[in-house]
Amino acid sequence: MAEAPITRRRFLTYLLGVTGAVGLGGLAAPIVRYAYPVAHTQVEPRQFVANLSELTPLGEAVEFDYLERPAGLILLEDGTPKALSRVCTHFGCIVGWQPEDLIWFCPCHAGMFSPTGEVVGGPPPAPLPEFNVIVEGDKIYVEGLV
Ligand code: FES
Repeated sequence: MAEAPITRRRFLTYLLGVTGAVGLGGLAAPIVRYAYPVAHTQVEPRQFVANLSELTPLGEAVEFDYLERPAGLILLEDGTPKALSRVCTHFGCIVGWQPEDLIWFCPCHAGMFSPTGEVVGGPPPAPLPEFNVIVEGDKIYVEGLV
């Protein structure tokens, strides 16, 4: 028995159904993601940075990468470790700690940040992002952004 030929109406109805299903799927995905956000899609591992006993307050910084992001750690004047992103909040250049001036300095447009990352000069619009610091005995770790 021969199959009935596909009529233009039937073909267009089928095409409309497939297009509608794809379109609804495309609309539904962001709505579902909004309604059920994933709390932490990126794992923020604990990473060893330095030994506390090897650092001096407001001395040299320990430069490291955290999740491929340039970061730096210094000891503040009171001996508290502070870990900051070294990505300038202006246009993303890499800042460096200058212990003689007690600033994180951005060479691109002379942006300046305090030891705790606040903007103290130049064009950066925001402080340097800060990492969670964990001290266990003599070991200093970072684990995610504050
Ligand atoms: S990129 Fe740092 S001050 Fe412009």
